[in-house]
Amino acid sequence: MPRPIDLSTRWLGLDLPNPIIASACPQNADLDMLKKLEDAGAAAAVMPSLFEEQIEFEEWQFGGLSDYGAESFAEAGSYFPELNDYNSGPDQYLENIEQARKAVSMPIIGSLNGVTRGGWTRFAQQIESAGASALELNMYYLPTDPKITSAQIEETYLELVQEVKGNISIQLGVKIGPFFSSLPNFAARLVEAGADGIILFNRFLQPDLKNDLTEIEPLLSLSDHREIRLPLRWIAILHGRIQASLAATSGICSGEDVIKMLLSGADAAMITSIIMRKGPGVVSEMIAQMQHWMQEHGYRSVEQLKGSMSHRNCPNPAAFERSNYMKALTSFQSPEV
Ligand SMILES: Cc1cc2nc3c(=O)[nH]c(=O)nc-3n(C[C@H](O)[C@H](O)[C@H](O)COP(=O)(O)O)c2cc1C
Repeated sequence: MPRPIDLSTRWLGLDLPNPIIASACPQNADLDMLKKLEDAGAAAAVMPSLFEEQIEFEEWQFGGLSDYGAESFAEAGSYFPELNDYNSGPDQYLENIEQARKAVSMPIIGSLNGVTRGGWTRFAQQIESAGASALELNMYYLPTDPKITSAQIEETYLELVQEVKGNISIQLGVKIGPFFSSLPNFAARLVEAGADGIILFNRFLQPDLKNDLTEIEPLLSLSDHREIRLPLRWIAILHGRIQASLAATSGICSGEDVIKMLLSGADAAMITSIIMRKGPGVVSEMIAQMQHWMQEHGYRSVEQLKGSMSHRNCPNPAAFERSNYMKALTSFQSPEV
């Protein structure tokens, strides 16, 4: 008789029955989808992000934000209707959270996407009042001006985190991209600014040229499992070095991928692409795969797994570092030549 396995974990102050969370995407605004995810065993779901620009546009329309002029929204006006379909718009967003809370018993996590401080961050408090169990802040700024320094951008992010955190009493997870010169330092400062958890990593649009190469196509593609390597490395490095919980997102496609992230030091694993490919039932498959692997390898709890292959704890920390790069180059053999 196999011994029972304890998959429970803690993320953003929430006690979860297992580490698999349905990551932010428009499908999670649909109540049927949320029920299916819960039935399949998802531990929590994140609502699609509401954007800073949407909130400011609405407040500007109703006269709440005098510091914004019509020109601030001139370009945005063309895509706002689609955005409101995407995440139901600021009005409906709160109602959607309330309905989701009633429809399922798993925690519902709100999500805001923005880059600058301002009146819009008060919306964080309304998301909490609507019943969100925690909040994600997705910060996605793409600098094009060579005069803007990385220090300035990081400072702006930190101020934003501080401001959002100041508006809520639920825990705050900050979702970041991988492009920082010193990620450990920035992560530590995010925690000082008020982040309770860090979500690694945002996947950015990778534009391409199309139509006889005369048009820019903003491509969003679903991930594949090779993408886990980027968050895996950084979670392994951050584990035990910063006082925050860590969630992995990007490329997680199987129970084994979840186990890899936990071994590296993650507290939770967030998935979107694999649900879009296979449907919500994939969550129960992944849970079964996790249990099977843990049973076979003699692990009885997720807590036992966490961080045992992190940079600090693994037998060969150099494998996560620069020296491994040199070794990989010198030992590489092309299968073709
Ligand atoms: C269609 C689509 C919509 C998404 N919308 C959001 C969003 O609104 N907010 C957010 O933080 N992430 C969003 N994401 C990112 C996912 O939450 C997730 O972090 C990312 O896709 C990596 O996980 P995956 O490899 O399992 O897809 C979206 C991803 C996809 C594919």
